[in-house]
Amino acid sequence: MDKIRIKGGNRLKGEVQVSGAKNAALPVLAATLLGSGEQRISNIPDLRDVLTIKRLLTHLGAEIEADGQNWTVRMSALKQCEAPYELVKTMRASVLVLGPLTARFGEAKVSLPGGCAIGARPINLHLAGLEKMGAEIKIEHGYVSIKANRLQGARIYLDLPSVTATENLMMAATLADGVTVIENAAREPEVTDLAQFLNRCGARIRGFGTDVITIEGVDSIDGATKFGIMPDRIEAGTYLTAAAVTRGDIFIRGCNPRHLDAVLLKLREIGVAIGEDPDGVRATGTARIGPADITTLPYPGFPTDMQAQFMALLSLCEGSSVITETVFENRLTHVAELRRMGADINIQGNTAIIKGVRRLSGAPVMASDLRASACLVLAGLAAEGETEISRVYHLDRGYEHLEKKFSNLGGEVTRMKQNS
Ligand code: UD1
Repeated sequence: MDKIRIKGGNRLKGEVQVSGAKNAALPVLAATLLGSGEQRISNIPDLRDVLTIKRLLTHLGAEIEADGQNWTVRMSALKQCEAPYELVKTMRASVLVLGPLTARFGEAKVSLPGGCAIGARPINLHLAGLEKMGAEIKIEHGYVSIKANRLQGARIYLDLPSVTATENLMMAATLADGVTVIENAAREPEVTDLAQFLNRCGARIRGFGTDVITIEGVDSIDGATKFGIMPDRIEAGTYLTAAAVTRGDIFIRGCNPRHLDAVLLKLREIGVAIGEDPDGVRATGTARIGPADITTLPYPGFPTDMQAQFMALLSLCEGSSVITETVFENRLTHVAELRRMGADINIQGNTAIIKGVRRLSGAPVMASDLRASACLVLAGLAAEGETEISRVYHLDRGYEHLEKKFSNLGGEVTRMKQNS
């Protein structure tokens, strides 16, 4: 198993190109199950989760030609309707095949994702929505099995604006008979990217980007000729935070600043200079960075996927900050590791109270999930001395060419085999 060694203390400077968004690529690739035509998709990032969905789609019967970031996918016939435990356990987003498989082939069997490091993460909203559209659902032996004749359009209210539930139901409704309305839908830009891909293939979806999405079902959808995955707003946010925490100066090329409004607002509030231009965003850190209070919320609120990175940043600010995590129940596990590096953070329930310290010191630390790992990378870059992060596979799920990108910016980040 690999680990990452970081020699901290360098001010990061230069330019980095943002990759395609993991959380948009996964649902768009799952959506290729809906049509028999050829789908040409570009800007697909080279990540472990993307490889997992490729294995899953191939297992189900898709033919995939991957030429770097450009993929051609064709799903002519179903070979298998089952997403096995081995694939789902490494990536919860495998549940995204439920909606398209049920809608097009009338059956799906997916291993139930268990809890994960950040909380219980049930899929009840995905299942309740599909049931409302007429699917029969059975849960046994750790699998959810779904059968349906043609799904029927329905009015679905989501108790929580779940991102993947919205995506699953939107894909299912694309081939349903009649109109589906999803209320309290997620408004994340990745949901919009998926809706735009589906519409490009002939779906009739409107209202995406708002909390009421209306889908007029169609009999079939075609292939998309060329669809580019949106830039990864969380990767971009992580590099912006790297500029701030190392008091450096980084231009993130290719990101969409409008997807990052809540993050940019907080960076400006604490004293980071932000420059926006049509090609990207520049962040310039200053010696004195102030505190902030942050509450994570569904989009357009402050993203839970940026909470851990801000925890590292605010650990090194002047004054006291408060971060409240409201989206997931157990997403503060990185705090214990930050404390080992000298951070002064207290946790009360889902709230972290951070007293800024003058310095962090490098230490061996362990990553518990994807964004917690990113937090430790940022802390390591800013800390005095060496930090070694184990369980690097978490980072490989979501950050493309991480060592190379940070090294190009002047960071000393190297990957090593765990035993070396
Ligand atoms: C997606 C993102 C993830 C991000 C999260 C929140 C992908 C592949 N992943 O995850 O990076 O952190 O959105 O922005 O896009 N919930 C239920 N029942 C359900 C579904 C969700 O109770 O059926 C709860 C969850 O436990 C959580 C909250 O809803 O507390 C939000 O989760 P959700 O939006 O579903 O997250 P994901 O779609 O899994």
